[in-house]
Amino acid sequence: MSLFRNFQSVKKTAFGRGSFNHLDEIIEPHCDKNAGFMVFVVDDVFKGHPLADRIPVKEGDVIEFINTWKEPTTDLIDDLRDRILSERGMPNGIIGIGGGGIMDIAKASSLMFTNEGSSVQYQGLNLIKKEGIWHCGVPTISGTGAEVSMTAVLTGPVKKLGLKCDWTVFDQIVMDPELTAGVPVDQWFYTGMDSYIHCVESITGTKNNTFSTVYAHKALDMCREVFLELDRDDPKSADLLMIASYMGGISLTYSEVGVCHALSYGLSKILEVRHGLANCMAFYHLEDVYGDYIHEFKTMIDKHGVSIPQGQSAGWSEETIDAMAEIAYNLPHMWDHAFGPDWEKVLDRDRIKEWYRRM
Ligand SMILES: [Fe+2]
Repeated sequence: MSLFRNFQSVKKTAFGRGSFNHLDEIIEPHCDKNAGFMVFVVDDVFKGHPLADRIPVKEGDVIEFINTWKEPTTDLIDDLRDRILSERGMPNGIIGIGGGGIMDIAKASSLMFTNEGSSVQYQGLNLIKKEGIWHCGVPTISGTGAEVSMTAVLTGPVKKLGLKCDWTVFDQIVMDPELTAGVPVDQWFYTGMDSYIHCVESITGTKNNTFSTVYAHKALDMCREVFLELDRDDPKSADLLMIASYMGGISLTYSEVGVCHALSYGLSKILEVRHGLANCMAFYHLEDVYGDYIHEFKTMIDKHGVSIPQGQSAGWSEETIDAMAEIAYNLPHMWDHAFGPDWEKVLDRDRIKEWYRRM
């Protein structure tokens, strides 16, 4: 029997250049005129940036500029929620403006405003008890798919794992490719490759079906056009990559990520390497798993002159490699997708460590 899933989609989607200018009218129906306020969580790269002046903040609203150099943690979400509730009370909604980290912060905070206790206790599938507050995502970089996913990935004291349930999914997203114009080339590449890798892992694993495969193939073609054919400055490139990110994310709702993401989670949890770069560091050395896709990936690297750190493992202790392997090994849903239900017959911690030693 094929895999049964019944997933929640984003309720409303705006796409197109200039759609950010409509954010005010998009938010308006969700504001309670008599009580409450909106919370804006914004990547702090936009502090003092012209975009910050275009955010439709009203009197009484809260705007938080958050540094996302480190991936979002359960502590960050708990502290933000506790501070806003104690100082201001319950917001009407939350709007995230930024990259995948900010998308995850907006999604997780939305849920944690209405669910008691620490977000640590909700890391996993369907552990959230109550619907969160209205939440809206405005991506400013393309690739993570966080704008459509039903997961808000958080790094906790023990694991890097998402708050995953139907209520995690955004009520509204606003995809305006103009917002991605100022992203530095290396970040643009690493994050864009997150989408490419989502598609490769979706297609090559065992859980896929026609739904996931068709979205992934189309998104892969768009990634090829973006990273092998078009100029970065061509507006069509930004438009395509934004939709590739979205479609790669949708593909995963009926599939899963695989070997690269499992290794990447170990790098992020133990060494705090950011998701996009961690994926690229792992993917570079996975020719034995992903074959020709790795050659294509390396062609894209060469075309854009970006660097993927090499020889890193020489500086890692055995304990570090053990710890990363342990994080990666304990992601059975990814291994099950990559190798099938008998994955434990082809994968052990030593094989995972061998992959890390290549990096
Ligand atoms: Fe990813």
